[in-house]
Parts: sequence; structure tokens; C-alpha cells
Amino acid sequence: MKISKLGSSSWKDYRDLRLEALKSCPIMFGSSYDDEKKLTKKDWESRLSSKLSETLCCIDENDSLVGMITALYNPKKTQKHIAMIVSFYVVERYRGQGIGKRLFLALIKRIRQKRHIRKIKIQAAKINSAAIGMYLKFGFQKVGMLKKEVMVDRKYYDDVIMERLL
Ligand SMILES: CC(C)(COP(=O)(O)OP(=O)(O)OC[C@H]1O[C@@H](n2cnc3c(N)ncnc32)[C@H](O)[C@@H]1OP(=O)(O)O)[C@@H](O)C(=O)NCCC(=O)NCCS
Repeated sequence: MKISKLGSSSWKDYRDLRLEALKSCPIMFGSSYDDEKKLTKKDWESRLSSKLSETLCCIDENDSLVGMITALYNPKKTQKHIAMIVSFYVVERYRGQGIGKRLFLALIKRIRQKRHIRKIKIQAAKINSAAIGMYLKFGFQKVGMLKKEVMVDRKYYDDVIMERLL
């Protein structure tokens, strides 16, 4: 298993994994399969080439993507010190083997190399105990709750906001 940064030439593999994530875990993400399946090649490529984000992936021995995680860098003058972690996903059959932890720690290391970043934020579904457990373990604190933040199949779900100061 290898962790590396995804470039725009990998847009198809990235798209496929992202759409799988949105389809299989609709409650866990702030976007939806129906919205993102409409994105074009250019949209996917520009996500991977943007200076305002970076996506790390985990590749298995057959060169298949089995996990990914993204940092978004805030461009606003007053919030340039904030990074947000999003789009964190490991293919189901590979979970519980430490891949998520490796992706998460590798991304935090890259974020820390940007010396102006002073805070990392993450939003997670309140029911997502696996993810929240990991974030707490790595020094994130729960700082707030967003009620009825996500609606799937006419049911509402709360999100927890977590952050870690650097
Ligand atoms: C969250 C996710 C990325 C974790 O990936 P993973 O490869 O299974 O994680 P790891 O095997 O590295 O486990 C890392 C830590 O997560 C926690 N964890 C993982 N699975 C867990 C579970 N079922 N219950 C509770 N905690 C769990 C543990 O703290 C674990 O650390 P430990 O092994 O030292 O106890 C994966 O479960 C996933 O893709 N879930 C669906 C999408 C999602 O929820 N994304 C996060 C959105 S905020």
C-alpha cells in the first residue's frame, strides 16, 4: 500500500472512488452522488490541480485506489490560516487495517508543512463513531454541533464540528 498525492491525470480513478463514497455513505459527506455525477472531466481535473486543495490517496499492489482524503485551504485573507479536511474515505473491504490512519496522518503532516496554517477543521456526522473516534485520538476536539445538517431519504442527521489548533 502506497500513499501519494493525486494529480489531475488520475481524475477518472478519483471520480470513481469519490462517487462510490457518496453512493455508499450518503450521510457521511456534505455533497451527494446525484450532484457530483453531473461533474465534467474538467471539474474533476480542476479539483486535483487546484492550489487551494490537495488530495492524498492510498494505492494497492494492483494500482487501484483504495482510499483518499483531501485538505481544502481557505483563500480568504482573514481565514488563510485554516485548513479543512474533507472527502475522507476507505473502500469498505480495506477498513480497519490502518489505511485511514495512514492517510489522515500523512495529510496532517503536509498541512503542518504550510507554516501559516494554524487550525484544522473537520465536520463529521454525529453517528459516525469510527471517524469521530479517530479524530479525538489525533487531538481534535468537538467544538459544536450542526443540527439537521444533512437530509437523506427524508431523514435529518446532525453533524459535529471538530478542530485542532496547530
Ligand atoms: C473513517 C474511515 C476513513 C476510517 O478508515 P479505516 O481505514 O477503517 O481506519 P483505520 O483502520 O486506520 O482506523 C483508524 C482509527 O479509526 C477508529 N475506528 C476505525 N474503525 C472503527 C470502528 N468501526 N469503530 C470505532 N472506531 C473505529 C479507531 O480509532 C482506529 O484507530 P485504532 O485502530 O488505533 O483503534 C472509514 O471507516 C470510512 O471510509 N468510513 C466511511 C466514510 C466516512 O465515514 N468518512 C469520514 C467522513 S467525516
